[in-house]
This record gives sequence, structure tokens and C-alpha cells, in this order.
Amino acid sequence: MHIFHSIADLRSYLRLQRQQGKTVGFVPTMGALHEGHLSLIEASKAQNDLSVCSIFVNPIQFNNPDDLARYPRTLDSDCAMLAPAGCDAVFAPSAEEMYGKATASDAYAKPILKFDFGTLEHVMEGQFRPGHFNGVGIVVSKLFNIVQPDRTYFGQKDLQQVAVVRQMMIDLGFQIELHPCPTLREPDGLAMSSRNRNLTVEERAIAPHIFKGLSLAKSLLLSGRPPAEVKREITAHFEQQPAFRLEYFEIVDAHSLQTIEAMADAGQTALCIAAHLGKVRLIDNVVF
Ligand code: PAF
Repeated sequence: MHIFHSIADLRSYLRLQRQQGKTVGFVPTMGALHEGHLSLIEASKAQNDLSVCSIFVNPIQFNNPDDLARYPRTLDSDCAMLAPAGCDAVFAPSAEEMYGKATASDAYAKPILKFDFGTLEHVMEGQFRPGHFNGVGIVVSKLFNIVQPDRTYFGQKDLQQVAVVRQMMIDLGFQIELHPCPTLREPDGLAMSSRNRNLTVEERAIAPHIFKGLSLAKSLLLSGRPPAEVKREITAHFEQQPAFRLEYFEIVDAHSLQTIEAMADAGQTALCIAAHLGKVRLIDNVVF
């Protein structure tokens, strides 16, 4: 497996591969990899001649400096997982390599361009993490331009990210197939996430309440209870769990991400949640 830190080196490697007619699958990540990421590599391997994984903790998508500082950086163990999974190339640039030369006051040049995803980002993650999707949009479009993949693989755990990236690809005309892949869960239901490793033993033991809350909401909705009532019940359920600080629980249309009044209003319904457990912010969703 090749490991590249420079854009120029990755580009010349990929140019040679493409000249040999190879197709390229791309999995963008921020590292701290788990089985969920490996399932994206597996999906890419099944459809492409070559699979590239980027590992870059993108500073401009963090609106909370503590969250950025705490984000696990584990390049060596990530590479030790990717090589046996059959990944062909890892791209692990520095912030300066991605965004340009540092200045006296900043570690890298801050992009001036701003993405605005309208109604897709005025809700949920976008509402609680201002600027987050601008940072995601900028880094993903830069990575697409660098790697120029045929197909790209994203986890559905970040449902709103998938919606935003899908829109960006349409609006900017990227000729890349987007493949959203299912969320992988631990045996107790907790969605796999790089942030799980920051949970204490006690927090980890109760973290599956998040998925339990989503599952309860799903069964209430399927039994015919109206969304507004279910939202109140789930919110109350989390208020009784003092270890959790619920940020949002929303019942939305899975594509537009807008709140629905009745199940019939959505093609597919998504239940989306974000909650703080200790110092860790966890998100999850179910789509049905
Ligand atoms: O989902 C992530 O890990 C990140 O948001 C992504 C897509 C790699 C962009 O930094």
C-alpha cells in the first residue's frame, strides 16, 4: 500500500494508474478508522480496480476548537488496518498541503470561498455546527479534484453530509458516482464512530441508549403515532437520562431533511439524533 503526503505525488501515481485503464474508488475519512470505514473500502474494492483512502482531520469543518484538538489522530494504526483491507493508496496531507502556505497567524491559508447549502444546512448539524458544511464542501470538492475518482463511498451515519455532498456534486457537475453505505453497529446497537473511543467505560456502557431511542421512535411511528407526538416522547425520554444532553431529535424526509408532519409526507423517513455524553458528541440516524 502506498502512502502519500503530497498532492503532486498522489496525482502522478494516479495518472499512471489511469493510463493503464484502471478505475478509481475513493473513501474520504478523517482517520481513527473502525470497521465502518473498512466496509467502505470493501465496497470500493468490489467496484473499482484501485481504492484510495484519504486521512485528513479537516480543521475548517470544526466549529469547536476543543473538538478539533480531541479528535483522534492515529495514522500508523489506520494504515495498519487499511493495508490488509486491500486499500491501494492512502493520502494523508498536512493542513498546509491542502490549503496552502501558513501565515504568521495561521497554521495554513484559510480558504475564502464559502458554500451555502440553503435548507439542507439550516437544520440539525448545520444549525448546531455553523460553518461545518462549508468546511466539508470545500475539503470534499478539493479531494475530488485531487483524486478524480470514478466512484466515492460515504457512510450513511452522516446522513446530512451525504445530502450536502450529493447536492454539491450535482451543482458543480462532478462526474463521480456517489455510493452511500449503511451504518455499521456494535452488537449493542451503538453506531460505529471514531468518537466512540473518547467515551469513558461508564459512558460507553450507556451510549446504546441513543440507538434504543431511535428504535423506540421508529416503532411508535410505525404503530401510527403522529411525528410531533413521537418527537415529544423521545425528547422526554432523554430528559430522564441525566448523562445525556440531547441536542436534537428530528423526524425528517430523508432527502430534503425537512421536518414532516405525517409519515405520508416523506418518501423515506429519517430519524436523526445528536446528543452529548460527557465530552463526546454522538450522532445517529435510522432511515425507513
Ligand atoms: O465524514 C468525514 O469523515 C468527513 O466529514 C469527511 C467527509 C472526510 C470530510 O472531511
